[in-house]
Amino acid sequence: MKSNGKPKPRFTFEDPERVEQIFSQYPDKKSATLPLLHLAQSQEGYISNSVIDSIAELVDCHPAVVMDCVSFYTMFYTKPHGRNIIQICQTLSCSLNGADELVDHVTDKYKIKPGETTADDQFTLMKVECLGSCGTAPVVQMNKEYHESLTKQKFDELLAEFE
Ligand code: FES
Repeated sequence: MKSNGKPKPRFTFEDPERVEQIFSQYPDKKSATLPLLHLAQSQEGYISNSVIDSIAELVDCHPAVVMDCVSFYTMFYTKPHGRNIIQICQTLSCSLNGADELVDHVTDKYKIKPGETTADDQFTLMKVECLGSCGTAPVVQMNKEYHESLTKQKFDELLAEFE
């Protein structure tokens, strides 16, 4: 595919030995899809169409199959994001226990809606499905850490640590 008359840059893994190591752990190439996606995201920051095409070629499947994996798991990002990712669970238990107010709070405080990033690239706000800790709702995942039973005040204290 071409854009603006120039060939689209092709994604390549910076560490081909790590790719070989991943493949060696599985009897079937397709089983390496998720670890390859994690590796690509750690390299690029997100999963671009070029990453999807490259991984599909490596595991010998259609790009739509790789895209299915990417769209199923909320830990994969399909566009560039800020330095800190605020994922707020929007599923029933969290929603009934104040998650919607937490989303509104971020929107008011940083002027970003779900899916958007602050102008200074400090925060990206995302609404996600159940984070698997419904008994401690509302739950927010800040980067890779869970923060449970959040009140607006506790959430503010958490956000202040990343400002
Ligand atoms: S409903 Fe939010 S963690 Fe399950």
